Amino acid sequence: MEENAEYQRQLALFVRCSTEKGIELVKVGEVIAGLPHRRCFLDIGAGGGDLTIPISQSFAETTIVEPNEKQASFLKRRCPHLKIYNDFWEKVDLGSKRYDLILCSHVLYYIEEGHWLTTTEKMYAHLEAGGRIAIVLQSPIGEVADFFNQFTRYDVKILELWRDLIQRYGDDAIEVRYFMNEIWTENLDDMVTIGLFLLIDPRFNEYKDEIGRYFESHNKKPEGYRLTQDVIILVIKKA
Ligand SMILES: C[S@@+](CC[C@H](N)C(=O)[O-])C[C@H]1O[C@@H](n2cnc3c(N)ncnc32)[C@H](O)[C@@H]1O
Repeated sequence: MEENAEYQRQLALFVRCSTEKGIELVKVGEVIAGLPHRRCFLDIGAGGGDLTIPISQSFAETTIVEPNEKQASFLKRRCPHLKIYNDFWEKVDLGSKRYDLILCSHVLYYIEEGHWLTTTEKMYAHLEAGGRIAIVLQSPIGEVADFFNQFTRYDVKILELWRDLIQRYGDDAIEVRYFMNEIWTENLDDMVTIGLFLLIDPRFNEYKDEIGRYFESHNKKPEGYRLTQDVIILVIKKA
């Protein structure tokens, strides 16, 4: 429970200090513009709803799958008109329901890499003809990846997923977009909190001082701290 609350605090700080969600909304907006219908939207791992809430305005109906109890109950209060499943994507039963847009933004890190293709296949099974899946992941290159590599191994297999998706659905079905997120904080404490959020595993709390020293030497600017994050969107289209 305490971990849940800390995670929510870290996520809220990350969102407040990042340009990411605004840029992501523009990029996902470009994907939405290519849809033949805007009836049903599914957001997998909606978090605080920063993307879900604005995107839901373009669709007649929105569904959320979110396993974090606190986030799910916040979203139930904040958006009583949305359908919310407090469950894991791998486990949730959505019956035969299909969606025009399925968003899975910064969620695959929490699912074992060996299961990424089956996870994506489940999304594809719930995709309407003409619909799109948008999978958003951090790129293996850039400042955040370098930070990761300092403390753990940054080994998110995006290129492998991309190749597997092309093999599974064909070259024409896959599209890739790229953008840069700028994370800006005025003080070191906030950047360390964001660093811990990015590292995901709470065991890195023990390395707070080292993380601080890393940002002090790599990301300190005259007015604060700046860290850039390269982000990839894999788009899967269903004919
Ligand atoms: C980093 S947040 C991303 C939030 C939001 N999608 C965004 O991009 O702003 C990751 C979210 O994925 C959720 N999550 C983790 N494992 C999941 C799973 N197996 N199925 C669905 N959601 C999951 C977490 O609870 C968290 O809310």
